[in-house]
Amino acid sequence: MENYLGLLTGGGDCPGLNAVIRAVVRRAVANDIRVLGIHSGWQGLIDGDIEPLTRHSVAGLQYKGGTILGTSRCNPLNDAALQKIRANWEKYGLDGLIVVGGNGTLSCSMRMWRDHGYPIIGVPKTIDNDIVGTDTSFGFDTAVSVATEAVDRLHTTAEAHHRVMVVEVMGRHSGWIATCAGIAGGADLILVPEKPFRLSEVCGLLLKRKEMGRPFSIVVVAEDARAHPDEEFLTEEQRQRIYRAESLGGIGQHVARQIEERTGLSTRVTVLGYIQRGGSPSAYDRVLATRLGVHAVEMAMRREYGLMAALRGTAITSVSLEEVADKHRPVDEDIFRTAEVFFG
Ligand code: F6P
Repeated sequence: MENYLGLLTGGGDCPGLNAVIRAVVRRAVANDIRVLGIHSGWQGLIDGDIEPLTRHSVAGLQYKGGTILGTSRCNPLNDAALQKIRANWEKYGLDGLIVVGGNGTLSCSMRMWRDHGYPIIGVPKTIDNDIVGTDTSFGFDTAVSVATEAVDRLHTTAEAHHRVMVVEVMGRHSGWIATCAGIAGGADLILVPEKPFRLSEVCGLLLKRKEMGRPFSIVVVAEDARAHPDEEFLTEEQRQRIYRAESLGGIGQHVARQIEERTGLSTRVTVLGYIQRGGSPSAYDRVLATRLGVHAVEMAMRREYGLMAALRGTAITSVSLEEVADKHRPVDEDIFRTAEVFFG
């Protein structure tokens, strides 16, 4: 009897998704398993937007950004969607489903498996590097490289114009991208969600640099960085606009304005935005994505469901989706302490 494995990519796009798709298909066809590609995340399973993937259709995908399947932030956990998913699951004769996603998609996957009985295997992806249960996720390495290159380039203008350059980076509620790009790019200060900041200290540090003959600085700000409550400088309206659950962004602008007003230092802001997420994955991300994809199919062959493929040390292994769901992984304390050595 033929086996059919569904494959979908959910959440924000991320460099390495296509490498997983290619790996899943290549590993599956080698064992006569058919892979059905589901378009636009869970939405495709609801709508029956599904097509067979072949060795031919995934050829050469490892270096391409985005996802050939498309993606969405659709949440299938409602009665109408679940009913349609059940019908399509039977129509296409699926035996299992590989879901490649970040925290939101993996949390949904856990519920689809635990509460609705779907045989699901998760594969972690996100530039934010904030998934619990895996040492790192593909996409992160590429995003850090992009952000580092931006910091390198901004150094030139900062130095030439004696300016403070504020660089806002992504990362949701974790400061991984900010911290690692900040270390790699030689940032003079890094503001992350895990460590509420005081503008008085930020400005003090920048003025001290000026006194030391360093009138330029690079400040990397994570999109969810927040002021310490005892030194809040945003209005309630501004806070609501910046820290929206569905889409963060804008804190860099406010930090830059405050720095200029309080220190008199010429200050500019750059928001990296989706540039961090687009384009070709790094070699590291291609390899990690490929290993996770192969492992996920091998888990399906052993009927190991309700699990997520994960990197632990140098090995690819599996962790329970229940361990992963509804959590996020803050930036490593030790790495942040290393970054702090270079502040000022
Ligand atoms: O989770 C990845 C990520 O790029 C975050 O860093 C960012 O906050 C968010 O997605 C943006 O999401 P959207 O594509 O929905 O605007």
